[in-house]
Amino acid sequence: MRVVVLTGAGISAESGVPTFRDADGLWEGHRVEDVATPEAYDAQPFVVHRFYDARRAALSGVSPNPAHHALARLEEELGDDLLVVTQNIDDLHERAGSQRVLHMHGELLSAVCRACRGRSRWEQDLSDLPPCPRCGVPDLRPDVVWFGEIPYEMDRIYLALESADLFVSIGTSGAVYPAAGFVQQAATYGARTLELNLQASEVTTLFDETRHGRAGELVPAWVDELLVRR
Ligand code: APR
Repeated sequence: MRVVVLTGAGISAESGVPTFRDADGLWEGHRVEDVATPEAYDAQPFVVHRFYDARRAALSGVSPNPAHHALARLEEELGDDLLVVTQNIDDLHERAGSQRVLHMHGELLSAVCRACRGRSRWEQDLSDLPPCPRCGVPDLRPDVVWFGEIPYEMDRIYLALESADLFVSIGTSGAVYPAAGFVQQAATYGARTLELNLQASEVTTLFDETRHGRAGELVPAWVDELLVRR
């Protein structure tokens, strides 16, 4: 049984990482969509850096929750037959022990140099314009995918969706494509589809089955169920 799991901000909510579209969806008066674009970065780099610096700094105060741990447990059993595709830029899947994770929207703990294109693991702030460890030019940006940019790893993701027997979407609003279209892609190639989310997502009607509740409860229960059936 090949399983592809898509995760979004909702899986990290119980760890204390704020989602994008719950509450008022604003950050210091800015819509997230206005901060997370190349145009915003060109116009107001300091504002954009501070948004990501705050999120990066907050990582040290959060831990994986039972949903992340359950997916790591599932990977121990399924090995290469499980792929986790996450829209999240936090590192909570890895800290829970998952190894087969694709970060389609990039990672907070990585910076990319606009001068030499090199990537570096990054744990500090970027707003004070540090030099690139590779070329020395102070032109590092967060290694995240902004609106209008192409998500990472799309070839590997579509290949996995085409051969999946089961596609499970966890904690995502279904508001952002291409991730919101994965359910249709997987179903077209014959996968069963399941949504685990606090509430109906924008694409909820496309799933064979939906379960509403907290990821910290739904995901461990679903993993238990799957492993018993195997
Ligand atoms: N358990 C399960 N689901 C939850 C929980 C929880 N404890 N808390 C919130 N949710 C659900 C919300 O109901 C919502 O449907 O998680 C979803 C979070 O949606 P968004 O905030 O829109 O996050 P996401 O879908 O990951 O956003 C996609 O948008 O801004 C961009 O690049 C950013 O990766 C992000 C993308």
